[in-house]
Amino acid sequence: MTMDKLMTEAMAAAEFSYSPYSKFRVGAALLCKNGEVIRGTNVENRSFGLTVCAERNALGTALSRGITEFEALAVYAPDADYAVSPCGACRQVISEFVSADFPVSFQGAEGERVDSTMGDLFPHNALDELKE
Ligand code: THU
Repeated sequence: MTMDKLMTEAMAAAEFSYSPYSKFRVGAALLCKNGEVIRGTNVENRSFGLTVCAERNALGTALSRGITEFEALAVYAPDADYAVSPCGACRQVISEFVSADFPVSFQGAEGERVDSTMGDLFPHNALDELKE
């Protein structure tokens, strides 16, 4: 699947955003090694700190279905006029399951799509030894 198509999936996911507080919708689409695309969106709460980002919701959905191997991630933020990259917490959580060459692309309502990798977004990854 192309990154263009995966981004279209992220756009669709953003439509379901529950973001009445920030009014900042985000959609994520995770391409799994089995070919499935798992969507996620941000879910906010009136206790603001409980918000969960689109990326972590997509990942949690995939893991809850027993899917642990991933090909790529697309993130779309329709309320931004620039490409919004995954937050620090999401970078840490995603890094648990992918390697440095894992493609991550992000896009806003305006401007170009940014094509990056997990290694670029999360350098000096540490604590891998705890997984063994
Ligand atoms: N958000 C995401 O879902 N993903 C990102 O990559 C950036 C931030 C959400 C969290 C919150 O609901 C809103 O965007 C504003 O921060």
